[in-house]
Amino acid sequence: MPAFSALALLLFLAAVRADEADDARKRWAESPHGPLLERILPPSFDARDLPERDSSGARLTLRYCVQCHNLPNPAMHHAAKWPVIVERMVERMEGRGNLGPLMSEMMGGVKAPSATETQTLVGYLRRHGQKALDPRRYPEVDRPEGEAFRLACSQCHVLPDPQRHTAVEWPKVVARMQENMAWMNRVVGTRPIAGEPQLRIDEINAFLAKHARR
Ligand code: HEC
Ligand code: HEC
Repeated sequence: MPAFSALALLLFLAAVRADEADDARKRWAESPHGPLLERILPPSFDARDLPERDSSGARLTLRYCVQCHNLPNPAMHHAAKWPVIVERMVERMEGRGNLGPLMSEMMGGVKAPSATETQTLVGYLRRHGQKALDPRRYPEVDRPEGEAFRLACSQCHVLPDPQRHTAVEWPKVVARMQENMAWMNRVVGTRPIAGEPQLRIDEINAFLAKHARR
């Protein structure tokens, strides 16, 4: 029955891993700071969507990066940005976070990656990172037609390369970003409020559709 026991062991390990992620989530979700931590990253990205799901990078992301907030999407940031972010996160995991009392209350169960694991994490996130728009290729981004897109879509990450998606895909991504903005509490204005910048979805979608992947 060797095949059976190997399968049983795998199932057992998968269950343990899932439990670990659940435990981590429970710890911050139920902490008095839960509402604050929950808003750091939106819940829009699911573990099933991690690229190279069975790689060590994906597994390390699932083990370490859900201990304080929702799962980060490697495609959120461009490659150059990830090492800096991971360094800041590892400091927190090692208890040197700058949120003082908030973090130390949660620190009890938080695990930090080893130096090798950190390297794997950074490599993984960089490999699947966002590609930034090249303004030499799309000079329109600095003209009035690119303004709505430029202002709204550079608030949390670099301006994404329009070639990342097709004209059919973009409006769905933009709609999800609108939810991300509401979740993370950035500019969402859909009704005019004096002095508040407006989110001009139609203009954003028009810009992206024009330069989208064919
Ligand atoms: C010990 C708690 C903790 C762990 C574990 C943690 N983070 Fe964070 N993370 C935070 C806090 C607090 C913030 C908000 C403040 C900030 O951005 O530094 C944050 C913010 C973020 C942001 C949004 C800010 C930005 O610059 O876009 C990303 C992305 C992120 N974390 C990625 C990660 C990744 C990747 C990992 C795993 C390697 C991770 N986090 C693990 C505490 C943590
Ligand atoms: C409030 C912060 C925020 C703003 C503003 C924002 N994004 Fe994002 N973006 C995220 C987060 C968080 C992720 C990762 C989670 C996800 O994919 O939903 C992400 C990921 C992405 C990705 C990579 C994932 C994919 O599906 O390709 C693209 C492309 C993207 N954003 C485009 C945009 C566009 C276009 C805009 C402007 C309409 C925008 N973003 C505005 C937070 C933001």
